[in-house]
Amino acid sequence: MSARTVVERVLTDDVRARLFRPTGEATGLPGAAYTDPEFFAAERDLTFSRNWVCAGVAGDLPEIGSQVPFEIAGMPLLLVRGQDDVIRAFHNICRHRGAQLVASPMKRPTVVCPYHAWAYGLDGSLQKTPSFCGPGVNSHDGFDASKHGLLPVRCEMWGPLIFVNLDLNAVPLMEHLEPLRQRWAAYDFGLLRGGGGLRFELVANWKLAIENFVERYHLPFVHPQLNSVSSVKHTLHITDGDGFVGVGSRNFAPPPVTPDHLLPHFPGLDAEASTKAEYVELFPNVMIGVHYNHVYAFIIQPLAVDRTVERFEFFFIGDEAMTPELTQARRQMIDLIDLVNGEDIDIVQRLHIGCRSPAMAGSVFSPVMEDTTHKFQRIVVERLMADAGLAVMA
Ligand code: FES
Ligand SMILES: [Fe+2]
Repeated sequence: MSARTVVERVLTDDVRARLFRPTGEATGLPGAAYTDPEFFAAERDLTFSRNWVCAGVAGDLPEIGSQVPFEIAGMPLLLVRGQDDVIRAFHNICRHRGAQLVASPMKRPTVVCPYHAWAYGLDGSLQKTPSFCGPGVNSHDGFDASKHGLLPVRCEMWGPLIFVNLDLNAVPLMEHLEPLRQRWAAYDFGLLRGGGGLRFELVANWKLAIENFVERYHLPFVHPQLNSVSSVKHTLHITDGDGFVGVGSRNFAPPPVTPDHLLPHFPGLDAEASTKAEYVELFPNVMIGVHYNHVYAFIIQPLAVDRTVERFEFFFIGDEAMTPELTQARRQMIDLIDLVNGEDIDIVQRLHIGCRSPAMAGSVFSPVMEDTTHKFQRIVVERLMADAGLAVMA
């Protein structure tokens, strides 16, 4: 069944009409949008093949020759740092018989297939086809190596974040990001320094992890400790973004663990930004938390319809944030998210279990607290319909 047919089957006229009502009257996506393997395959072919997808951070590829496999919605991709220090992306498949080239992160001057030892340069060009035409005969006249380089994938950076796009005609990343870059123009992301990460794996659809992240209604019930440093009372909602949606706190105030050693702030922030935190979901798969003294990227990697890897990567502000005296202060930010996201895992998995029920016909949203989750579902539908060449409203 084509991706387009599946999209039309799950996102019926009725489902879309009810989703696109005002938040307080809308009905959310049906369970099948989270549990149907054919719908997930449609998301792979549309959402994850035609949008800028976050694939990791520059620190994943520390040196020339670093090679890192990355799988998104079942598609094997490869990130490589080239001789020119530029990070590139390719399909992680050999041009000979299609074997997966790199299975775990490594460093090597060429990309070598483990099957028949074809070797590719770090720029993807095919360089060696040993004994392709018999022992010691590496090629034949009819074989053009220049036509069998690794298949490229668009790859562009935003600060330390790596984005890939399988659509070779996609708009440049910077153009795509313009609305969000304008929103955060006061923050100098050139100052970000990588300072640690977290990884979680959960039995749930990727969208549920995001829907949970963009609402703070659950803070007092699921995260009492977070609520004490970033109270639900100070919540702000970001619903006017083009391709992004999020929440924030007007008063992010964790108690300092080391009062004499405070984390440096972004320079030049106004009074409002100096207490604020914003958490934005940039469709489809990265959420970015921007605070006056640190930033994190929360990268969602869908593996299967009910299996998702979550990665957090933390960044602090300038070299002075990375001193040994500030180890504990940096650790506090990471530990807070470790606690909070650990609390979310069980809830998100329960959402997925609920989606498997035939009785799950779609959620009801709080018009005050969940306009963000509602907007995320609308973005999911708008992008899927557009990428399938369908109109959102009949
Ligand atoms: S499949 Fe890669 S060299 Fe044969
Ligand atoms: Fe949460």
